[in-house]
Amino acid sequence: MVYGILILADATLAVLALIAAPLAGIRTARRWLYVLAALVTARLAVAGLLLGGSVLLAESRLVVQLPLAVLPVAWALIRPGRTASHVAAGGVLLSVWWLLAPFGPQDTVLVVAGSVVALAAVAAASVGVGRWRTSGSRASGLPWLAAFAVLIPAVTLAGAERANAAAEGHRHSGQLSVDQLTGPRQGTPGVRLTLTAAHGQVRLASGRVVDGLTLNGSSPGPEIRAARGQLVEVTLVNTDVTEGVTLHWHGVDVPNAEDGVPGVTQDAVAPGQRHVYRFVPGREGTFWYHTHRDGAVNVQRGLFGALVIGPAGGTTVFTHAWPGDIAAFGRSDGPERRAATGEQLVRLINSSEDPQVVRVGGAPFRVTALDGNAIPGATPLAAGTALPLAAGGRYDITFTVPDGPVTLALDGSPDVALAFSPGGTADPVAPGDGERFDPIAYGSGPAPAGGGYQRTFDLRLDDGFGFSQGRFSYVTSLINGRLYPAVPTLEVTRGDRVKVRIANRGMIDHPFHLHGHRVRVLSRDGDPVTGSPWWTDTLNIGSGQTYELEFRADNPGIWMDHCHNFRHGANGMILHLAYVGVTTPYSSDHAPE
Ligand code: C2O
Ligand code: CU
Repeated sequence: MVYGILILADATLAVLALIAAPLAGIRTARRWLYVLAALVTARLAVAGLLLGGSVLLAESRLVVQLPLAVLPVAWALIRPGRTASHVAAGGVLLSVWWLLAPFGPQDTVLVVAGSVVALAAVAAASVGVGRWRTSGSRASGLPWLAAFAVLIPAVTLAGAERANAAAEGHRHSGQLSVDQLTGPRQGTPGVRLTLTAAHGQVRLASGRVVDGLTLNGSSPGPEIRAARGQLVEVTLVNTDVTEGVTLHWHGVDVPNAEDGVPGVTQDAVAPGQRHVYRFVPGREGTFWYHTHRDGAVNVQRGLFGALVIGPAGGTTVFTHAWPGDIAAFGRSDGPERRAATGEQLVRLINSSEDPQVVRVGGAPFRVTALDGNAIPGATPLAAGTALPLAAGGRYDITFTVPDGPVTLALDGSPDVALAFSPGGTADPVAPGDGERFDPIAYGSGPAPAGGGYQRTFDLRLDDGFGFSQGRFSYVTSLINGRLYPAVPTLEVTRGDRVKVRIANRGMIDHPFHLHGHRVRVLSRDGDPVTGSPWWTDTLNIGSGQTYELEFRADNPGIWMDHCHNFRHGANGMILHLAYVGVTTPYSSDHAPE
């Protein structure tokens, strides 16, 4: 939170600098230099404070952006002059540019070299024009034209470099094909069903009808229930979804070939075709399935459902956003009543692209599992507590129904609420404003031993300019300054212990989801986890947040690691985790998600 505010403050200072710099350059008046100096000093202070969150938040500012501004401005103050003012203004502009066009550490040398060349060109142009002007002509705008003429190639160069990295960052070579990494091909399944994807209307509780996509005629699709260790066989049939369909078993660490990622683990299933998935779930918990082709549209339109591993029981509630931004609990887009007595288990699943907050009122409750991982020592939370769900994330909650209703309310839409009461006659009651649930200090139990990492990776998430689908545009989806497929693959060997630092340097949430593995949170913004071990598969990384995670590389394959806001994914917020030696026969020209 605090670091998110600092990021916003820095952006504000940068915008002010963007306005002040041209004035300082054109007027070459000392007071404008003081303004620049003040803004740059303030940015420096903010960068220092960001270090408290993590080095990743501050490094590009401290190593590149601020030196580019501070040094020329200081020089102009010490040795005043026209050229010094021009260079100072140019340095400040460049420094802001590199905030807007974020880069990863791999590009630092190029960025610094390009910037120094640009500033030298500004100095040369300024001196040249100065001589020309003393000889009689007036062309005070020229240094600026020249500066931008140099800036643009510098920027393009950096951009081109990113685009070129596409091929090189994205090679998988080896002898083991993902096709060989299947679930059991032999054996009679304990759970067997066919899911048929087709266009269809989805009727919401209010009577509104969504032009949707269904599985076996409904959306959400059928809830799949299986016991741990049971062989599950699902045949996906596509009737008429032209973009193609796959099924991804979100949160279940299936063998790679069963993972449902088009272009990586299979081809998308075209209309008239089918695909069989077979896997044995290894852990109990609340999971879900969804298509992985054009997820931004097709999950929203309905190609998803619940997958519950473990004993029977519990009510599954999706927080969903239907096309047209209709917020709902499943198909309930208004208040709903349900008869219930005694102890209740509710499985909350966020199938929308955005974080959702569910408030629980009317009784104390416990969060007994997060992303399908039981939380030992789950203590009661006060009625009114808000549960923030990452896009794709899940919570299991339990409560005992008193005489009055227990209300689950969707924060984003105060009218979407579900009331559990003995008889089912009570209407939902506003839950009131309680605290926000935070897993970092919830539950108890010994943390597994950390350390001994064979691999460590740093991921920097940024908003900024980048090449997306062949166009240079502003996106919110950069990873280490790049977009898929130019984001370098994380390479691991089976058995590795892996540590990942992930920092959100941008201004919006990124729910990160690693396929095929569950990860354990070690710390957030430097604060260690003090509750029960925090296992997750979909972690919302808010603006300014830095998480340290670890996982064991125990499931060979080529795996997606991506933002579960599918629009960000489609823009390129995806990378792969690949085991050395594994290769894929699949490829795709389609949008990456
Ligand atoms: Cu739930 Cu790659 O997704
Ligand atoms: Cu995102």
